[in-house]
Amino acid sequence: MSDIKETLEKAKKLASYKAVDDNVRAGMKVGIGSGSTIKYAVDRIKELGIPLTCVPTSFQSTQLIIAAGLELSDLSRTPELDVTIDGADEVDAQLNLIKGGGACQLQEKIVAASSKKLIIVADFSKDSSQFGDNWKKGIPIEVVPMAYVPVMIKLERSFGLKPVLRMAVNKAGPVVTDNANFVIDAQFTSIDNPADLATKIKMIPGVVETGLFINMAEKAYFGQKDGTVKERS
Ligand code: 5RP
Repeated sequence: MSDIKETLEKAKKLASYKAVDDNVRAGMKVGIGSGSTIKYAVDRIKELGIPLTCVPTSFQSTQLIIAAGLELSDLSRTPELDVTIDGADEVDAQLNLIKGGGACQLQEKIVAASSKKLIIVADFSKDSSQFGDNWKKGIPIEVVPMAYVPVMIKLERSFGLKPVLRMAVNKAGPVVTDNANFVIDAQFTSIDNPADLATKIKMIPGVVETGLFINMAEKAYFGQKDGTVKERS
């Protein structure tokens, strides 16, 4: 593993372990986010050996919960959660988030909205003063497949965004979400009012959800290079 990759992995683990220790208790109903950082949170929950009910936010997160031997539920059986722990692609100074780097933002947002609190775990590279400082790929927007072209045109014409259809790694076709939709990454130069932009994008017919999580997170834990954890609430 390269030095930077190793430093980032250590930072993800630090943040995740502290977030679980501070926020997860026996008997809780816990939303489990998606991505590479959340794996460490699940590792810590498993290590603690406390009884919990877990609700996943994606296929990947379902597999993590099963592999860890934790109790798996869903929002039909467990519609109200104590806490959700999740990663993020960028966290701004007001704890607004860009999420969806793994194309899971729809279920992540539904699970977070069903939780008393949303706790974010991340390495230091996700910590920014304003959107765009770190995350260059754009706002992930989940769209109904038949609407992707008109949605891209509207994103460009109405908001000056530069939309790109997210393609599979092998470029054989578009990324397809767990909900059988496509993802558009809408690149931006700056976002003055994230709440307003999120609302307007959501109103475009064909848009299912955006990766802008505004006023949802209660606290973020950022693992640092020096082995400490920076907290923002
Ligand atoms: C998936 C997400 C992830 O939480 C986000 O992309 C962060 O992932 P990672 O922990 O791998 O950096 O929103 O849709």
